[in-house]
Amino acid sequence: MPTDAEHTIFLKDYAPSPYVIEGVELEVDIVPETSTVRAWLNISPREGTAPGTPLVLNGEELKLGSIALDGAPLVLSAYEATPGSLTVFEPPLKRFVLETSVTIEPEKNTRLMGLYRSSGTWCTQCEPEGFRRITYFLDRPDNLAVYKVKMIADRALAPVLLANGNLIDSGDAGNGRHFATWEDPFPKPSYLFAMVAGDLGSIHDNFTTASGRQVALGIYCEHGKEDQCAYAMDSLKRAMLWDERRFGREYDLDVFNIVAVSDFNFGAMENKGLNIFNDKLVFARPETATDADFGSIERVIAHEYFHNWTGDRITCRDWFQLCLKEGLTVYRDQEFTMDERSRPVKRIEDVRLLRAAQFPEDGGPLAHPARPDHYKEINNFYTTTVYEKGAEIVRMLATLLGEAGFRKAMDLYFERHDGQATTIEAFIKVFEDASGVDLQHFQQWYLQAGTPKVKAEDQYDPATKTYRLKLRQKIDPTPGQPTKQPMVLPVKFGLIGPNGAPAEWSNVSGGDVRDDMIVLDKDAVELVFEGVANRPVPSLFRGFSAPVNLDINLTQDDQLFLARHDSDPFNRWQALQDVSMTLLTNAVRGRMWAEPAIDSLATAIGETIGLESLDNAFKANVLLLPSEADIARTIGENVDPTQIHEVRAAFIRALVGRLEGALRATYDRLASEDAYSPDQRQAGRRSLRNNALGLLVRGSSVGAELAARQYQSAGNMTDRFAALTPSVVMGVPGADALLEDFRVRFTADPLVYDKWLGLNAAPPEDGTIERIRTILADPSFPKNNPNRLRALVGSFAAGNAVQFARQDGTGFRFVAEFVADVDKRNPQVAARVLTAFRTWRNYEPKRRAEAEAALKSLRDSGGLSRNTADILGRTLDG
Ligand code: BES
Ligand code: ZN
Repeated sequence: MPTDAEHTIFLKDYAPSPYVIEGVELEVDIVPETSTVRAWLNISPREGTAPGTPLVLNGEELKLGSIALDGAPLVLSAYEATPGSLTVFEPPLKRFVLETSVTIEPEKNTRLMGLYRSSGTWCTQCEPEGFRRITYFLDRPDNLAVYKVKMIADRALAPVLLANGNLIDSGDAGNGRHFATWEDPFPKPSYLFAMVAGDLGSIHDNFTTASGRQVALGIYCEHGKEDQCAYAMDSLKRAMLWDERRFGREYDLDVFNIVAVSDFNFGAMENKGLNIFNDKLVFARPETATDADFGSIERVIAHEYFHNWTGDRITCRDWFQLCLKEGLTVYRDQEFTMDERSRPVKRIEDVRLLRAAQFPEDGGPLAHPARPDHYKEINNFYTTTVYEKGAEIVRMLATLLGEAGFRKAMDLYFERHDGQATTIEAFIKVFEDASGVDLQHFQQWYLQAGTPKVKAEDQYDPATKTYRLKLRQKIDPTPGQPTKQPMVLPVKFGLIGPNGAPAEWSNVSGGDVRDDMIVLDKDAVELVFEGVANRPVPSLFRGFSAPVNLDINLTQDDQLFLARHDSDPFNRWQALQDVSMTLLTNAVRGRMWAEPAIDSLATAIGETIGLESLDNAFKANVLLLPSEADIARTIGENVDPTQIHEVRAAFIRALVGRLEGALRATYDRLASEDAYSPDQRQAGRRSLRNNALGLLVRGSSVGAELAARQYQSAGNMTDRFAALTPSVVMGVPGADALLEDFRVRFTADPLVYDKWLGLNAAPPEDGTIERIRTILADPSFPKNNPNRLRALVGSFAAGNAVQFARQDGTGFRFVAEFVADVDKRNPQVAARVLTAFRTWRNYEPKRRAEAEAALKSLRDSGGLSRNTADILGRTLDG
């Protein structure tokens, strides 16, 4: 018999439930240690449900106190209750009310799913399957119900009582207790349920929607942190306005509340009218938060707000459709940031993330389609493929249909599916109906895993003035998908003539070319451009118009030509990255760069950062050379992270040796006395200046001294942390003292403590693991807080390749042991950290063997959660 851990859910088995819960009334008696949840579920059999069909409700760790049907207690033989489910054997075939009472223990809930307690505050996390830890229910996203919840709690412990929707009643409950009743008029799935009870401070504001509705906005937080919530509030109002302007979407309730909590498994959660946030995505002040932190807050506030339409009003039929709400909402938050800040810079940052996180997932044992067709543990499918590749797929739809066509389709989506739980097929159908374009082939993007490789070859014939461009695509096998079909790739492109201006052609044949876009939907095409006066240089996948790996054999001269002349800023940036990557990968393979090659690269970089026409944030990205992980991924096999680290360090020294003057000038020129603001202009200036500093610390003798001075004199956390990080990672003289200074001055604030933890895990030196072990062993270390664990060990496993993948295997074993330990308390955090092993087969043989041994010994230790067992099983098998 298969054990629970082996149970697989298949999309093909989807069936509507025989009963529907249409209305829910809850009475939650919140009492330390044991809370009681009474539920009145308004249930109807679905049409066609046969008499005698049992009603089976989900539960988890629940203790049933009482049960009644239409007011009459059920006899023991009429039902079966276990902690994991409640079955009523023969419910009536008409509408009825099922009344249950259960007890739960939020204080013991270290998984942080369902109702739990974080620093004294009771709060909930229900997505995807947490509601069943609160009461017996049809805990699946296609059951839409209206909710009314009465919360009763001690007035001193929990003066604030919040739930979804509008407050309809409140008052005294005797014995120092009080109550509040909230009602949410919008039918919703159980995963969007939320309630909060605690002693919280708050800030308030309001927003008037386009149609004149007044919305009361509130952000609730630990007392004393109210003054750190202003940027979150400002971001919320900008997000609300943007969704009206860009997508015609207004907010629909009278209240929108956000609560910041300090123990949270994810970033934030879009519960209807009551978003709950990891406090690191709410709190910010210049002294303790970096520009990146401000940027994340703005982005995540917007993301969760945008879910109100793409997620809450239109939700998912089942969890296989997760990307329907997440991919689309990531696309929407990306567009928001692009409109609020800089379009090309945001695109570069998103593509960097996609390549750093999603491409390795797609090329390894955990690869899965954006819409998977089976899973063992749904929590393991909140992946970068569902999110970031999901957003890329929506972006390609927008590219193929054009801005107006895309907006028209989105309008139809909102009109047709409002109030429904729907599917990816229905989403695609909307786009077909709105545009008249057949998207059946395009739909493969949701169904096939793997990153397409595109090979481009070109040839120019001066005699006939003909330019030929051959494009071929191929996708490697992924787990469960040995053979692949070609995908539909929108290839935005341009041909650039010798003077840097666009090359013209009189005719093009051989494929589907629409103005500046080639649509490649076959294995290969050969395009023939006629009437091309001179040999052009092709600029392909402008703006990264499809999430592929492009292999094009351009010479370094051609690449540097693109870096100087491409009208597409993304490809200008890409061209410089490509030059670096070629030199780096060749060097790793034993073919050291030639000095003139570095000379020309340095010249081009120097020129770029000197151009007035480019903004600072863009130039900052030019100074971010391919990361060690980028190099490892590009090489793909026999990876030795130590060697890659050394080659990259030497490369930086070689470049900085030539660019020191320009970097120093940039650094000096960009100093500023302006009062701190997190806006794009200032943040761009700081990032260029700080990236210049980072390179100087890594490659010049003056860097360490400059950084130490900046650390001491910085007026904000962005500059201070940017000076500290490279000093600590490089282990420059005095770095330990700076790190200790940082600890003493800042780590009383838990969010800055996380930064300190991350720095301790970052040095690629021997001794880092010992340092981490010492911190973990300190009895005062908060070993159940996800933020702390991720900052220390998560960042080590995912970001410190040299020490994690030590050849002696100590890094692998350390992380595996950590996972086994945390798994007992918080399986989701454990499973997430374990994904750092996903590229283990790409290491050289010795490291590969050590990684495999660590994974197998974790497996053999037994008793793992379903979350961790699932990731482990796939990592070893795939
Ligand atoms: N719905 C998710 C939160 C979530 C994540 C619930 C995983 C259950 C499991 C939320 O909308 C989300 O996607 N949050 C992201 C941040 C976002 C900006 C991509 C997160 O929590 O990391
Ligand atoms: Zn989301």
